[in-house]
Amino acid sequence: MNDFIYKNNELFCENARIADIALEVGTPFYLYSEATLKRHFNSFNESSKVMDSIVCYSVKANSNLSILRLLFNMGWGADVVSGGELFRAIKAGVDTGKVVYSGVGKTEAEIEYALKSDILMFNVESIPELYAIDKVASSMNKKARISFRINPNVDPKTHPYISTGLKKSKFGIGIKQAVPAYESAAKLKNVLPVGLDCHIGSQLTEISPFNDAVEIIKDLVFRLIKDGFDIKYLDLGGGLGITYEDEMPPHPSTYMNSIKNILKDYRGTVIFEPGRVIAGNAGVFVTKILYNKDSGSKKFVIVDGAMNDLIRPALYDAYHEIIPAIKREGTKIRADVVGPVCESGDFLGKDRTLPHVEEGDLLAVLSAGAYGFSMSSNYNSRPRVAEVIVSGNNFRLIRKREEYHDLIKGESINV
Ligand code: LLP
Repeated sequence: MNDFIYKNNELFCENARIADIALEVGTPFYLYSEATLKRHFNSFNESSKVMDSIVCYSVKANSNLSILRLLFNMGWGADVVSGGELFRAIKAGVDTGKVVYSGVGKTEAEIEYALKSDILMFNVESIPELYAIDKVASSMNKKARISFRINPNVDPKTHPYISTGLKKSKFGIGIKQAVPAYESAAKLKNVLPVGLDCHIGSQLTEISPFNDAVEIIKDLVFRLIKDGFDIKYLDLGGGLGITYEDEMPPHPSTYMNSIKNILKDYRGTVIFEPGRVIAGNAGVFVTKILYNKDSGSKKFVIVDGAMNDLIRPALYDAYHEIIPAIKREGTKIRADVVGPVCESGDFLGKDRTLPHVEEGDLLAVLSAGAYGFSMSSNYNSRPRVAEVIVSGNNFRLIRKREEYHDLIKGESINV
């Protein structure tokens, strides 16, 4: 199934012609398919039902309020990593009893906000953080539910920047420190260990690193239960990969069934924190060709979207397929697709073979629904782009394009 398809050589999102949307909202913009989002939701959700589980969508992947609302309305909670993400999740109507909070640098203000919001649990990433949570909870006369994020030292075989479960990583605490960490927590009055957490990385396309991590974690969980800890929740994080080019990631049901087998003797609730696998292939980035440039030795297609809008190619050398909104006859070209930002790293695609394209044509950069808009910035003082969602024939603006005055919001001339 694909909701971004050509009809008579023109690209549609569901039943909406992308060129029509561009006429109305201008370019560049992010475009999401509601049907794809719901299909991804259903496939993950149904698969997760093979065990007692809660799904907490990872807000960082795509944090638009409408997308959050859609997923929360269908029953999911949220995985957040900052006060700002918690704020968004609450604004979008999350059930805070289904919110988990990870991250290595939670501030006292963020901890207080999460305690006030009565979230399900904090995934604690260090001993000093444990003490900080206890201190804030004590000042509020509360007991904070916690789990420790354990680092199983498993190689997720993904890009080093998004691999988090190796022992040199800043995330989580080492497996050898785990039991003493729970023992320290047991001595504190204002924290209650209720779970154990693990997330080894993102864009995993093989099942074996997940299995290896769960095997390691499982032994620890049973050891802790034997020691008297009530590990009600086992949070396995996110990380399931998607197809950008020719990757063949496991289907959510394969992933869930293999976890279920490993955890067959565990009686608690398993938590999942998917991000990319839900939003990634539900969105594209639409940009317009400004100039076809031939520098003599190389061809460039210069578009109005740039690295500040979609940073994945520049940051990770990530591949995103790029296709035209109108398929034209004519000679193919080989070119770099680049944006207007003043950096050589500003490219959306390198050495791409494109069909004949003309200035003014639209290009769709695929698989951009996760870590696209949410990682965008105002670099080069470029207003952040619009976001649009399609449902059938209809499309709705879910984030207005920023204007120049938004760029200076909060600034003052004070010299
Ligand atoms: N849970 C935790 C604790 C995480 O750190 C992450 C992602 C997730 C869940 C969701 O992972 P997912 O299911 O989306 O793989 N900006 C990078 C990805 C960074 C992922 C960070 N953590 C990218 O564009 O590829």
